[in-house]
Amino acid sequence: MWEEIVDALEAVNGGPHPGFRAVHAKGTVCKATFTPTPEAKSLSRAAHLQGPVEATVRFSNASGDPHTSDANPIAGRGMAVKFHLPGGEGTDIVSVPLVVFLARTPEDFLALTRARIPDPETGQPDAEKLGAYLAEHPETGIAIQKGMTKLAPTTSFATSDYRALHAFCLVDAEGGAHWGRYSWEPEDGCEYLSDEQRDAASRDYLQEEIRERLASGIARFTLEFTLAREGDPLDDPTQEWEGEREVVELGELEVIEVIEDPESPESPLVFDPMRLTDGIEPSADKILAARPKAYAVSIDRRTH
Ligand code: HEM
Repeated sequence: MWEEIVDALEAVNGGPHPGFRAVHAKGTVCKATFTPTPEAKSLSRAAHLQGPVEATVRFSNASGDPHTSDANPIAGRGMAVKFHLPGGEGTDIVSVPLVVFLARTPEDFLALTRARIPDPETGQPDAEKLGAYLAEHPETGIAIQKGMTKLAPTTSFATSDYRALHAFCLVDAEGGAHWGRYSWEPEDGCEYLSDEQRDAASRDYLQEEIRERLASGIARFTLEFTLAREGDPLDDPTQEWEGEREVVELGELEVIEVIEDPESPESPLVFDPMRLTDGIEPSADKILAARPKAYAVSIDRRTH
């Protein structure tokens, strides 16, 4: 099924585009440091939550078309962070601006992606196929509705928020379990383009802007962890945890500079939401379990 999912993603994005990721094709890789808070240490024994570590960040346009515009109102963005742990290992958080995910299972994601493949004759979305999918999957319509304003083009990669969507369990030094969901909050706040700014924006304005910003300054994000309440679904990324929750600040990410030529076919940069470390456990979310398998297909294709 993983090959079929990547085939479908390529078809939606006018691909294949050799050498590029099947989605999130366009991106800028940066060097960063992460400094955890004392609260992070009390929730998890994970190495990067004990003291400052270096990190690698990849900001991306979520489309699989490497030529798409950053001003595309529905493309959305991505922020993938790799924390470098003592001993050379890493652990990743991979996130997007969506509020909840579009599908509950990999089978649903495949069916949804196939329904999004444009009609080969007109090149336009096939309203009938997509409508039929949405009619059977109300959670997808809700995810699109909740995510639409968040996916809108921002003035910068550094003025967007991003969520990892799945639940993870932080495990403390005594073995205590703390379930929650991560989000990155930009310290400059979220800021979206006006209609005029969007019309005037260049194709790669987000990539250009982050270069300019980091040439003379730093982009800062706070890593937040929204703690689950009793009864919250831990295995369903389409369900929002509605209402008040305790939110713990886990640390601050300082994005310092752009890394030129960060990867090559011989040495690809790979972010994997299941690349965890002692002190962090995954939930039984089927989408979370599926992602590394689909990513492996894309990684294989983009490096061969
Ligand atoms: C079944 C569901 C999903 C599938 C099949 C899927 C598929 C993919 C694939 C094939 C890639 C390219 C991997 C590579 O070549 O390195 C990718 C990258 C990415 N995905 Fe997903 N994805 C899914 C769910 C998600 C979710 C839930 C999120 C966010 C919470 C997400 C965020 C990202 C980001 C940010 C990247 C770019 C990573 C980078 O910069 O290297 N994806 N996805």
